Parts: sequence; C-alpha cells; structure tokens
Amino acid sequence: MQTESKKDSAWATTVWARCEQKLARTSQRLQDSFPFVSLDGTYRQRETESYLCWWTNGFWPGMLWLLYRQNGVEDYANLARSCESKLDAVLHSYSSLDHDIGFLWSLTSVAAYKLTGSPASRSRALLAASVLASRYNADGRFIRAWNSQAHAGKAIVDCLMNLPILYWASEQTGDPRFAVVAREHAATAMRHFQRPDGSMNHAMVFDPSTGVVLENLGGQGFAAGSSWSRGQAWALYGFALCSRYSGNPDELAAAKRVAHYFIANIWQDWVPAIDFRSPVLPATKDSSAAAIAAVGLLEIASQVGEHEQGMYHRAALQILHALNDHYTAWDSSEEGLLLHGSHAYFQTNPVNPNDTPLIYGDYFFMEAIARLCGQTELFW
Ligand code: GLY
Repeated sequence: MQTESKKDSAWATTVWARCEQKLARTSQRLQDSFPFVSLDGTYRQRETESYLCWWTNGFWPGMLWLLYRQNGVEDYANLARSCESKLDAVLHSYSSLDHDIGFLWSLTSVAAYKLTGSPASRSRALLAASVLASRYNADGRFIRAWNSQAHAGKAIVDCLMNLPILYWASEQTGDPRFAVVAREHAATAMRHFQRPDGSMNHAMVFDPSTGVVLENLGGQGFAAGSSWSRGQAWALYGFALCSRYSGNPDELAAAKRVAHYFIANIWQDWVPAIDFRSPVLPATKDSSAAAIAAVGLLEIASQVGEHEQGMYHRAALQILHALNDHYTAWDSSEEGLLLHGSHAYFQTNPVNPNDTPLIYGDYFFMEAIARLCGQTELFW
C-alpha cells in the first residue's frame, strides 16, 4: 500500500503541475469573475442581472484558493478575496439566498479563514451558516431549498453538500444548534431520499407542517425513481463530509451505501452517464459527477479501517485516471479542465447545455488531485 500511495502521489504531482500551468493562463483572463460553463472553449459567467447569486460562484475562487495553498502565489489569493467581497452583495440580500449558501461561502469565506485566519471571512461564513440554519423547517425536519410559497415543502439531495458549513459553524462557535440542523436534515435524507439499494432521490416534496412525504420528483435526472448521477455524488461526498465533522456512524454508513451503488454502476469505464437509469444509449456523460464522487471516495477511505480503505481509494483512483486519460483538455483552445460535464438530463437551458466543461467539475478534479498530493485540510 505504501509503494502504491507513493506512485499515486507522484502521478498526482504531475497532474497538478499541468492544472497549475493551465490555470496560470486562464486566470489572466478570468480574473475575479464567476465562470460556470465553457462554451466554444471560453468560460462564461451567467448573463443575468442576478448572476451573483448563482450556486456555482464559489468554485472559481475555490480553485484559486487551492492554487494559493499549493504554491503560495499571492495573486491567486487576491483574486479569490475579490470574488468573496463581490459576494457580499448577495449575502446581504436575504431574498436572493437559497439553500446553496454552503456552496458559495464554504469555498470562499471558510477557505479564506482556514488559510489566512481572516476575521472578516470567518464572520461572513458564520452569517452564511446562520441564514442557512434559518431555512430549517423544525416540523418537517428538512432544510427548505428555495424561497417561493410553492417551494415551502421542497428539499433536494444537493443540500447535503451545504451541511458542512453548519457543522463548521458549531465547531467555531461552540453552539450546537447549527450541528443539530445539519444532523436532522441528514437524517431526513437517509430516511426519505435514500433507497434500499443506496441510491438517492433528487427532489422531495414534504408537507411543510408535518414532514409527511407528498411527492418524489425527477429533478435533474431522467425521472422520479431514476438516479441522477451528480445527485448520487452530492450525497456520497455530502454524507462523508458530515461524518468527518460529526463522527456520526449513521452518516458514514449512508455515504458508504451511496458509494457502493456508485461503484457498482461505473466499474465499466469509471465515468457515469447523467443518469444511471438512462433509457437512451449511448448516454451523455457527466464528468463532474465522477470528479465529485472521486473526492468523496477519498474522504470515505480516510474514515474507514485499513481493511476497507483500499476499495474506496482504488475506486477514486480509477475515476481520476479515467478523467485524466480521456476527459481533460490541456491545450489553450479550451479554458475548461474537464470536458463532458452535463447540467441535467433534460436540457431546458440554452446557456447551460450538456456535454461541456463545468466549473464545478474542474474544482472537484483539482480538489481530488490536491488531496492525493498530500493536502488533507478541506475547505468544506
Ligand atoms: N443544482 C446543482 C447541480 O446542478 O448539481
């Protein structure tokens, strides 16, 4: 295992160097913007007035912090700080915020605080966690995803990735209330989102007064009852991050159940289709789901005993090698790192088509490679 891990880290060092070289170039143009999808080789920001609240806006600053952590180049930290300050306009606009607060402020403010000890970043992250906690429905025992009256009872699987900022806030403040909200939402996800085979529903509608399940929605997957691969990856990594903070064996067990399902469905080529139960073949791939799952598997490997960890670690490596060998774009004609990311099974949004680089695919690929290079602290 020791020789194996030396080999893995030598490989990861080479891949990291290529990422760094590429980002030295793309950061010249992207600066402190909020890229989310690359079309015709060029990363775009959302072209709407409300582009600042888009859930993906933490990923580019997150990549800048990953670079800074590895090479100490202050320019990257300054760009990331500038992105973080721009997001203040959203943090102070209550009605623009939804449950994706964790995605936005973990990779900006929590990252900045962990790396630089900035009190302003700590304060932003605690405010973000407080707003997220305020979305908790105590009768239904879930965190509400969106704001309109019609969404009062809606919760989605992606939210599992928003829970770490709550656990972090409890750790920081010594106030258990944030962790209670995270624990209860995670328990609801185990009860009502996770199926006996370990796979996850995407979106559930609860009676907001009682928590009784009213409807199971297909969300970004093919249909209710199918399995959107990125949703599986959010749950795999989200549950694992929860258990990293809480030490709760139920959260780790839930992460392992999704992981087993994920591995069982990708072992042929290690990069999933948009939906594991896609009826259309050949299915469109989603490289972002693969990258998220890979970091999640590395996280699970770090929490289980020596007789189990090899399976998770090797599956993560298989995914990362498959991505590196067949899905990366290293030349300057493409700003994205990972090709073939997909937004949703049914393509309804022309500014976010399928089969393109996505900033979150790039972020999680780099997080995984940084981890193999020996970085164990996470921004989550
Ligand atoms: N809604 C977040 C995602 O597309 O994964």
